[in-house]
Amino acid sequence: MSATTWDPALYLDFDDHRSRPFHDLLARVGAARSRRVVDMGCGPGHLTAVLAARWPGAAVTAFDSSAEMVAAARERGVEAEQVDVRDWTPAPDTDVVITNAVLQWVPEHPVLLPRWLAALPAGAWFAMQVPGNLDAPSHALVRELLDEPHWRGSTDLRDGTAVLDPAGYADLLAPACAVDAWETTYLQRLTGDDPVLNWISATALRPVRAALPEADYRAFRAELAPRLRAAYPARADGSTWFPFRRVFAVARV
Ligand SMILES: C[S@@+](CC[C@H](N)C(=O)[O-])C[C@H]1O[C@@H](n2cnc3c(N)ncnc32)[C@H](O)[C@@H]1O
Repeated sequence: MSATTWDPALYLDFDDHRSRPFHDLLARVGAARSRRVVDMGCGPGHLTAVLAARWPGAAVTAFDSSAEMVAAARERGVEAEQVDVRDWTPAPDTDVVITNAVLQWVPEHPVLLPRWLAALPAGAWFAMQVPGNLDAPSHALVRELLDEPHWRGSTDLRDGTAVLDPAGYADLLAPACAVDAWETTYLQRLTGDDPVLNWISATALRPVRAALPEADYRAFRAELAPRLRAAYPARADGSTWFPFRRVFAVARV
């Protein structure tokens, strides 16, 4: 993980839109009981509580590579640890692993996935969701601006090759287990000024924010804002449609 930091409060804006795929993912996990549930990349921990409620008898392991996110999770009573997914291996009693909107930050996750599955006990469930919108205008316009002479070399931003499509995950996971893979495009209704810019500020723009001095970051956002407004125009009622594709895979070992 890079040194770019996360802002838990900013991330929790749009909580309803950001949480919905987690619930849709969880709905496809059929484990009636679990000895241990893992929230891999738990962020601010607000969804870890949902896992604890779904499997009340389970030990809960929550971890994240961001010190800020771990601190925010601990503040809400989740005993999160600061661990990078690349360094994690499942404990032998791990019956459920959930990783929601995390693995897009880990380009080598297709290599790690089969290793994690191989280490899980028979009957365990592994459920993941990644945004499938890295080539959408919200991200492509940031890359386009970063490629212009003034900003070139500031930082890199992941493109769509950072994640697979549902068939890609199904092929990767199927040799080890039964797989349920799908995609959904959520048509999100955002409100307020520059809502798409605000949305990506908590996620995709973090590497840009980390790479640029404050004044340059403000200038970058000022150049980006009208491009995003043109790509995602405000509707007559002031709201903005923001389609968001997400890719899901649930594997039963
Ligand atoms: C979009 S947030 C998702 C948080 C939470 N899972 C949720 O659904 O709200 C992405 C999280 O992944 C974490 N993350 C990114 N790379 C990671 C890595 N290599 N190891 C562990 N956590 C990572 C970030 O720190 C951040 O908290």
